[in-house]
Amino acid sequence: MSLKSIKEAATSKTAFEPLLSLRWGEDKLIMLDQRLLPDSIVMLDLYTPEEVWESIHAMKVRGAPAIGIAAAYGVVLASKDFGGNQMNDWLSHVLKAADYLATSRPTAVNLFWALDRMKAKAEQIAQSAAGDVTTWHTELLSEAIAIHQEDEEVCRKIGENALPLFKDGMGVLTHCNAGGLATAKYGTALAPMYLAHEQGIKFKVYADETRPVLQGARLTAFELQQAGIDVTLITDNMAGMVMSKGWVQAIIVGTDRIAANGDVANKIGTYSLAVLAKAHGIPFYVASPLSTIDLSTPTGAHIPIEERPASEVTEGFGKRTAPEGIKVFNPAFDVTPNEYVTAIITEKGIVKAPFKDNLAALFN
Ligand code: MRU
Repeated sequence: MSLKSIKEAATSKTAFEPLLSLRWGEDKLIMLDQRLLPDSIVMLDLYTPEEVWESIHAMKVRGAPAIGIAAAYGVVLASKDFGGNQMNDWLSHVLKAADYLATSRPTAVNLFWALDRMKAKAEQIAQSAAGDVTTWHTELLSEAIAIHQEDEEVCRKIGENALPLFKDGMGVLTHCNAGGLATAKYGTALAPMYLAHEQGIKFKVYADETRPVLQGARLTAFELQQAGIDVTLITDNMAGMVMSKGWVQAIIVGTDRIAANGDVANKIGTYSLAVLAKAHGIPFYVASPLSTIDLSTPTGAHIPIEERPASEVTEGFGKRTAPEGIKVFNPAFDVTPNEYVTAIITEKGIVKAPFKDNLAALFN
């Protein structure tokens, strides 16, 4: 669908079909290049795990659940290229590809969660020792498709669980993009917005621009506008002012990893928002699938934080905005301590403090 026809669909009376970031196409992964939005809609055909690795690393696909799904299909592409017919060789080929894909980005735990699931499936296929290489490949593909489909169901459930927070006339602020583009469909933080809109609830969204890669401006503002939701774009440094005016009754963000104690890693700038929320008495919600909760990471201090190239800050989108040779600090994520988090909204329900016990209980 072209950008023009998407805009027309959004304003027509027919149901709006959102843009999907990922689709499996027989022997290839079809990926929306999110770096080019909102200017152009370009779908990429990926045939190798190397192409998937590069796409995750360069953020053509981004958002914690979406990179997990893409990596799962990357393992399938490795299996497709396997030239032999021995089970042990197939297994080590596939496991090696999974370990390689795990090096594409460090913070979002969904990447490792999805790859661990693919590895476990490959080992299970190998143990059963049934069929031939075509059967093994088909079974592995079905696991990647399951990860993809389950994410859509999980996101919808997160939306249903967060929906009671939405009231007529309220303002909601969000950061980065935790929408349909970051997941299989619906998103996490944006899922309740789609459902509330479907139900005719009248609310306003303030979307932080989200420096330096502008996921809020390029992706969140785009997808909410396309869906006909009342969205206002602000730059990150306007959030405090907007809160002080009483325009925001809730903040909802996504997350890349939640530690066992409830500390939340998310897009850089989330921590500042949480502090501002507390200062203004505004509830701060984190929408998260269980696949983003990492009980093996005890606290936020143990979460690896990705640092990205200085050029994102000094010459983002091709225009130099800082002097040559300037020192730059460019962490892609920050950690919000659990005491700033009002609740974590999951597909299994809403979790409040004490997070250590209540998060662990979700997995029992
Ligand atoms: O660097 P990005 O764009 O991959 O960062 C994405 C975020 O921080 C999202 O908020 C998070 O992954 C949740 S997406 C449902």
